[in-house]
Amino acid sequence: MAKPVRLGLVGAGSIALRSPLAHISVGDVKEEIVFGAICDPVPGRAKAAAEKFGVPQHFESFDEMVAKGDFDVATVCSPIGVHFEQGMKLIAGGKHIHFNKTMTTTRAEADQIIDAAAKKGVKIVASPGQMLRPQNLRTRKLILDGAIGQLSWAAVGAGFGDYHQEEGVRQGSDVLTNIDPSWYFRKPGGGPLYDMTVYGLHTLTGVLGPAKRVTAMSGVLVKERDFKGKKVACDADDNTVILLDFGKMAFAYVHGTAAGMVNTGGWGVPNYYGTGGSIIGTTLNGKPFDYPGKDKDPQGHGIGLLKHAKGKHGGMEEMHVYEDLMQLADWVREGIPSIATAEHARHVVEIFDAAYKAAATGQTQALTSTFTPAAGA
Ligand SMILES: NC(=O)c1ccc[n+]([C@@H]2O[C@H](COP(=O)([O-])OP(=O)(O)OC[C@H]3O[C@@H](n4cnc5c(N)ncnc54)[C@H](O)[C@@H]3O)[C@@H](O)[C@H]2O)c1
Repeated sequence: MAKPVRLGLVGAGSIALRSPLAHISVGDVKEEIVFGAICDPVPGRAKAAAEKFGVPQHFESFDEMVAKGDFDVATVCSPIGVHFEQGMKLIAGGKHIHFNKTMTTTRAEADQIIDAAAKKGVKIVASPGQMLRPQNLRTRKLILDGAIGQLSWAAVGAGFGDYHQEEGVRQGSDVLTNIDPSWYFRKPGGGPLYDMTVYGLHTLTGVLGPAKRVTAMSGVLVKERDFKGKKVACDADDNTVILLDFGKMAFAYVHGTAAGMVNTGGWGVPNYYGTGGSIIGTTLNGKPFDYPGKDKDPQGHGIGLLKHAKGKHGGMEEMHVYEDLMQLADWVREGIPSIATAEHARHVVEIFDAAYKAAATGQTQALTSTFTPAAGA
């Protein structure tokens, strides 16, 4: 049997605490993955997390962790605006990478990451692995098989609300519970597209394949937010509506807005409308459709059907993030590639990048990146 991979955690904030640290410390996967090192620039945070979860090494400097840390795969749990720079340094250090969404903020950065990783033999799994959920693969098959006739349009999106200010993990007063979310509202990397709309856009493009053109309108609606009484000046767009052209007269409406959600079938699950009907969530023309494992998935969101949702994990927070990380561990140890690819993430990044350019210039942008969608099933 291959040895367990050793994990380096970049950042010890909300997702690091609630997903990789919590799930791996359950202790049932130590043949597959063990903690190696953790870093965070907030004084004392990496040390506190290391002590709480039993991580052997801790650092305040990311560069020091890459140079001295004993780990071979990294989960990037830092703010999105630093993912590119950190990804390039991890690749140079020969570390395999799980990127929490979103992988980078520009298409050019995503190209550099993919090229550098290929040259160095580094494997990348990029969250969110929406197409690992069987109901999304079935939706792809249904649409390709013509179950809703010719696809006319689809809609998906997410609203920011006050989600990040109100996350439970940020409400305490010590270094592990007082985690400032201000970066979510600032450039680069802030705003609901990279953090929330990314789920629905991964599903939409996973189901329909790569889009061909994009146009958008975008700006900052809420100019100042509040985190526990601290005023946060916001310069990242929090109100963006996007139109996508998938070719063959199939269009999509996608939003990352200050409020509201257009899709009714659940978080990250688009509505699809065709000449012969519609798919909303896990219903086809209003009636539930079948998909592998459905009898074990009463809530219909597919989390419990993910490969690593075994035992306690299925009921724990942020199971899907743990799944994406374990996809990388399986790939490194056993050579099982994941369908949550960097190429799919790059296409989603290109849509956001091009949408902001379209909004700034008033010009529809052509999309040129592609990826091979997972086969419908
Ligand atoms: N919060 C969620 O609900 C959630 C869910 C899934 C995925 N994610 C993703 O996880 C990532 C992190 O989000 P979060 O909510 O945990 O953010 P967070 O602000 O709670 O935590 C980020 C941590 O990274 C640290 N950090 C800042 N700069 C750093 C650097 N240069 N190097 C290393 N660490 C640095 C911060 O001090 C903080 O502890 C993002 O990509 C986000 O999209 C978040």
